[in-house]
Amino acid sequence: MKKLLSLLLSVTMVAVLLAGCGATTDTSVTKTKQSSKTTSVRSGKDDKSKVLVIYYSATGSTKAVAQTIAKTTGGDLFELVPTKPYSDDDLDWTDKNSRVSKENKDTSLRDVELEYNSVDDFDSYDTVFIGYPIWWGIAAWPVNSFVQLNDFKGKAVIPFCTSTSSGIGDSGKLLEEQAGSGKWQEGKRFSSGASSDEVEQWVKGLNI
Ligand SMILES: Cc1cc2nc3c(=O)[nH]c(=O)nc-3n(C[C@H](O)[C@H](O)[C@H](O)COP(=O)(O)O)c2cc1C
Repeated sequence: MKKLLSLLLSVTMVAVLLAGCGATTDTSVTKTKQSSKTTSVRSGKDDKSKVLVIYYSATGSTKAVAQTIAKTTGGDLFELVPTKPYSDDDLDWTDKNSRVSKENKDTSLRDVELEYNSVDDFDSYDTVFIGYPIWWGIAAWPVNSFVQLNDFKGKAVIPFCTSTSSGIGDSGKLLEEQAGSGKWQEGKRFSSGASSDEVEQWVKGLNI
């Protein structure tokens, strides 16, 4: 059943993209006004770690990848949590009246307020992984405000994403444009059910 749903999702996504109805790449959003209270979720391995793994995950796939990256690097984890989380109905991209469908259609609705949009001692990290699901071919927009509000100067930034079938495409490049700072790498796409071995192998090959 899950495989069938994935297949249906892939086929429909391709159809949507081919029909030119995919997400626009206008990622400009109004910067959120919420306070930049800080919380970081430490992996507990090494307080002096210079690796930070930031991610947004609506249904857990990107979260699993982020956890493996943090475990492999000994880095800290930081989850981006919308103040108004997405319910299953909100995520129903087959319903043109759902929250994501409306946000996809109207970029002005993509300014998703986060519980926290800054990280303790952000300056101390040299390498920042940033993870997200692919939504209509681009990074899920809850990551946008964090990327826009933080200074990545002097950091290596490594995007990663999960998707049913789409590649990472220009998602990292679009985030880099929004950030305006940092040494952004090409990044990596994983399938929704990627194994921790696959993620670990990729991370080890980065020589961080
Ligand atoms: C609104 C929405 C749009 C999506 N768009 C795409 C897409 O364009 N291409 C694709 O391969 N998968 C797409 N997916 C599937 C997700 O990228 C995939 O399930 C991802 O692994 C979910 O990650 P998460 O569990 O961390 O939220 C979409 C899912 C949703 C909810």
